[in-house]
Amino acid sequence: MGWRRVTALSLAAVLVAGGAVAIGFFATHAPASVATALPGATHTPGDRSAPTDAARPAPTASPTPIALVPRFDKAARSHDDPASIWVVVDKYRPLQPVDFTPPDLVVVPVPHVWEPQLRREASDAVVALFAAFTAETGLQLQSQSSYRSYPTQVSVYNDDVSAHGQAVADTSTARPGTSEHQTGLAIDISALPSKCSLDACFGATPQGTWLAQNAWKYGFLLRYPEDKVAVTGYAYEPWHFRYIGIDLATEMHTEGVTTLEEFFGLPAAPTYH
Ligand code: DAL
Ligand code: ZN
Repeated sequence: MGWRRVTALSLAAVLVAGGAVAIGFFATHAPASVATALPGATHTPGDRSAPTDAARPAPTASPTPIALVPRFDKAARSHDDPASIWVVVDKYRPLQPVDFTPPDLVVVPVPHVWEPQLRREASDAVVALFAAFTAETGLQLQSQSSYRSYPTQVSVYNDDVSAHGQAVADTSTARPGTSEHQTGLAIDISALPSKCSLDACFGATPQGTWLAQNAWKYGFLLRYPEDKVAVTGYAYEPWHFRYIGIDLATEMHTEGVTTLEEFFGLPAAPTYH
């Protein structure tokens, strides 16, 4: 009884293994016939129909299976729907409608400057991100600014224009209706206690360097990298993180692509239309 079970399992294992090899083989050697591709295929001596070595396709590459992992589907979620966690918002792509309000805002239970709200999924991810940071470094993070409504962005933008003029403001603050903060998926993070808040020097702090290296594991993207001003239209913001979900953040990290515009093949947005 015992050995029969072992034999049956062994046979099943061989069949499964053989199937995997065959699938991998077909993936990399499309012209091969079934008879020559399956493990254990034999030819009778003198069988004139059997393929000769000369007739067989020469091995062209390693037989390691390569086609068993599905490709990442870049169209799996909308880039236009403001309620999609893959929505792309920039100077060319205002929210539609421009006064969009996210559906599931919650208060994010983390230290903060201004009481933070984000969409529920992004809020949960921020809590996990902050906890991991503190567990690994013994240091603290806080939310500087999270969800901003359309009227709030009007106020933030007008204040920046008043202080610095429109040309300068447009390099650092989004015009109302074009801010990721209005999606409920973006957060400005600072150190606690504060150091280099909303300043480029945040990128060199322990908080800034850890976030740049690890935020993707929790579904966040450093949205305005130093070397991508011509794509994003904004100066380096090492504090601004956009929630895009772990699947997309991991894929972008793996591919080494740092902007949503480049990853999705959308136009660069250096200026407004
Ligand atoms: N600072 C970013 C670009 C915003 O205002 O949304
Ligand atoms: Zn921001």
